[in-house]
Amino acid sequence: SLTASSHGIIVLVGLMGAGKTTIGRRLASRLGLDFVDADHEIERAAGCTIAEIFARHGEPAFRDGERRVIQRLLQGAPKVLATGGGAFIDAQTRGLVKKHARSIWLRCPLPILVKRVSGRTGRPLLDKGNVETTLATLQAQRHPIYAEADIIVDCGDDSVDHGAQRIIEAL
Ligand code: S3P
Repeated sequence: SLTASSHGIIVLVGLMGAGKTTIGRRLASRLGLDFVDADHEIERAAGCTIAEIFARHGEPAFRDGERRVIQRLLQGAPKVLATGGGAFIDAQTRGLVKKHARSIWLRCPLPILVKRVSGRTGRPLLDKGNVETTLATLQAQRHPIYAEADIIVDCGDDSVDHGAQRIIEAL
């Protein structure tokens, strides 16, 4: 079997609620790799929450910070890196990910995404309007772009273990 470092950097992409963080953690522990959550690193670097970055500086400034943080993480050691749902949609960030890592799209049916994110706070894009309508719009815009990931893994409503297992089989 492969050693941890031979996996290089694995980047998880996909919509909010797809399980990038939960499945990513499990995947990293199964592969013996570090797990890093890009959103968490952005908050650490900024010293405030993502919601606060959006509110104070707007989404374009958030995307710039997100790109810088991801660029730095892509230069480091092998790891599983969970990214925020919009990171891979940014053309420059996507270019960096494609160049330095293996990208995996966690594809997930809309009703499951809606169920997972409903009632949870801290996601500024879901603050206004109906969550299902917003996610449906984002899905239509983003799915063709997520499809540029190196590997596509379907992560339905089953366990975190199954999701991680399916990724390992696809690697
Ligand atoms: C975003 C997804 C969020 C976070 C930010 C914007 C997006 O991350 O980066 O709220 O554009 O889809 P998660 O996908 O981890 O919720």
